Parts: sequence; structure tokens; C-alpha cells
Amino acid sequence: MTEKMTSQIAMELEDKYGAHNYHPLPVVLSKGEGVYVWDVEGKKYFDFLSAYSAINQGHCHPRIVGALVDQARTLTLTSRAFYNDSLGPYEKYITEYFGYDKMLPMNTGAEADETALKLCRKWAYEKKGIPENEAKIIVCENNFHGRTITIISMSTDPLARKNFGPFTPGFITIPYNDIPALEKALEDPNVAGFLVEPIQGEAGVYVPAEGYLKTAYDLCKEKNVLFIADEVQTGIARTGKLLACNYENVRPDILILGKALSGGVYPVSAALADDNIMMCIKPGEHGSTFGGNPIAAKVAIAALEVVKDENLAQKAYESGRIFRDEMEAIDSDMIEIVRGKGLLNAIVISPMDGKTAWDICVKMKDNGLLAKPTHDHIIRFAPPLVISPEQLKEAIRIIKESILSFG
Ligand SMILES: Cc1ncc(COP(=O)(O)O)c(C=O)c1O
Repeated sequence: MTEKMTSQIAMELEDKYGAHNYHPLPVVLSKGEGVYVWDVEGKKYFDFLSAYSAINQGHCHPRIVGALVDQARTLTLTSRAFYNDSLGPYEKYITEYFGYDKMLPMNTGAEADETALKLCRKWAYEKKGIPENEAKIIVCENNFHGRTITIISMSTDPLARKNFGPFTPGFITIPYNDIPALEKALEDPNVAGFLVEPIQGEAGVYVPAEGYLKTAYDLCKEKNVLFIADEVQTGIARTGKLLACNYENVRPDILILGKALSGGVYPVSAALADDNIMMCIKPGEHGSTFGGNPIAAKVAIAALEVVKDENLAQKAYESGRIFRDEMEAIDSDMIEIVRGKGLLNAIVISPMDGKTAWDICVKMKDNGLLAKPTHDHIIRFAPPLVISPEQLKEAIRIIKESILSFG
């Protein structure tokens, strides 16, 4: 007979048999619905991380799970060696939804970022006329685009890079939110692209100055450089618009999506671009066994339909305003700054009496709300966008009470 699962056993198993590449909060989840998750012992929590913004549509959204189950019973995977009858309709749907000629389907955010980098280099040699192997892509300090060797080659986080070298060349790093630095870097004629997160999520929800994205885009256009937006975390309504770039009416040359593109039920990512860029890649030059599989296609359509039908961008916009106002009103010396857009927010914590952001997260967990510190002193708050006004009110009460318990 198998032993009854408890949180303790689950944590011990992960500790003993799993690589130690994460440092999770000590809570073991076994069920999710909407804005809530439950642990193995049945305790209910608000999920204020949403799997790093993959669960924008809420846990186990019936429409998305329904699409998954229906398709899983019919046809799961064909590879791209053959056509399947779900991919074409999905490609039509997503390109019309975001306004691009074409999309290239992948699975994880990192893969979609890699796809964008490859597309950018190919375009640079075949369209812009940069000499072979000389193309450079500008990236920003404190970026986060994933974990592959090439992506960590662009990183400035010592933890992400240490002892993983040698690194991929071809990147120029400039400070984020720094237009003069971008202008200077763009003077190099071999620059092919500028890769940027519209808000730096993993870095701690850094929101650039108003106008930054638009000015950066215009500067790229002047130099015939591709503006590439990584909206893996900020996209799909998270920041209160369908895309964070929409705030400044910027249409990226390459748009990178992942996470909530599946509502968190399946790994689905994509790079979108127009024909002059996308058609640079020919058969055999790029791909993935699972990219564009029928389940992913059906799931992504359902996930995107939910975003529109449930008006999630507007909801995120309105709930975000209330959330930030309420956080700013908390009278605690531990709160240094509240920042964010829509429902992608963060509080910068000043440690007090040895108590840190981690201690606040543990206290919130005890009080029924899950969030995770990033970079020691920042807590990100990113609930599912389906959160109702009553649920938001209750969650705010828990956060307030937890912070104020430390003074
Ligand atoms: C902006 C951004 N890009 C890319 C990624 C990587 O996505 P994945 O973990 O699915 O590879 C993340 C993940 O947090 C992200 O926030």
C-alpha cells in the first residue's frame, strides 16, 4: 500500500530526488481553481504569483482545460513532419489577434526568445546586409529571458552565469530605461536588433519611464534595427492592456509570447513577425518536435478567447489601480516603494529587526496568500486576472495584516 501523501513527505522527496535548482516557499500544492490553490492538507490560499504570470486566466479554467481534454482524446502530436488540422486555424487566429503576418510556434518562453534571436540574425544577414557572423543584438542590464546558454550569455545576473561559460558572443549590454545609452549603442552599423522587456518582471517589476518604449522603437526604426519585445511575462493582459507595448502604441517587429498563452495548462510559446522577417527562415533551419502540436494549438486559442471574452485586460487595469493605492496606504516602514502596472506589481521591502521579504512571504502564507520574494528584498504580486473585487479586498486585507504584524 502506498503511504498517504503529506506536505512533509512531498518536500522530502523533492529534496532527496530532485535537483536543487529552486528554493520554494514551504507549501505543497495539490489543487487549483480560479484565484485559489489548496495544499495537500486542504488549506486554501490566494495565488499571488500565478506561476510567474502563466495563470492569468485563473487555475484550471474550464474552457481551456476542456480544449486540452478534447484534443488530448483526438490527436496529441504529429511533429511538423506532417500537417495537422489544428495548427493552421491557430496560426490564423493568433496572427489576426495580435496583427502580424505570421507566427512560429514553440513551447517555452526561452525557446521563443531563442527563436527571436535567430530570426533577428537571419534577417540581419539576408535583408539588412550585415557581414556574416558580425550581427549584434542590444540587450538590457538585469534582463531575464530564460535559462539557455545563449540567453544567460545576455544576462547580467552573476547567479545565472557563474560557471556556465563560455558564453555566446554577439550582444551589447546597456542599462535599462536609458535612451542615451541606446542611441550610442545604435551607432554600431552591425546592430541588428534591440531585445527588451516592456517591464522587467524578474528583475523586480521595473517599470521604465513613460515614453521609453516609443522613443526606443523610433530610434531603432531610424537605424533599420529590429525592435524585439519579450512579452512572455508582461503580455496577454497582465499589465492592464493586451500587451504592455500597447501603452505606448508600439508594435514590435518581433513579438515574443509564452506563459499565459496557454493559461498555464500546457507549455505554449510563440514568436510573431511579418513576412519580411519570418520568411527569412526556411524549412529545416529551425523548429521543435512539440512546437505547434494540436493540443497546444487548441489550448492557446481557448486561452486567448478567454482573455477577450472575460475582458481580462480591463479587469487587470482596474484591479491594479486599487491594489497599488491600497498598498501605498499601508502605514509601515517596511514598505519602501510600490510599483507596477495592471496586476504585475511589486513592493520593495526595507528589512526591519532582521525581518525580510522572505519573512513577510512566510507570514502571508500562514495567513492564506502565496507570493514569492525576488532578489531578496522585492515581493512580486501577480494574482490571476480573474480575481473579483471581493477577492481582491480580502487578499489586500491579508497582505496588510501580514506586513503590519512586523511593525
Ligand atoms: C520575460 C521573460 N522571458 C522569458 C522567460 C522564460 O520563460 P520559460 O521559463 O517558459 O522558458 C521568462 C520567465 O520568467 C520571462 O519572464
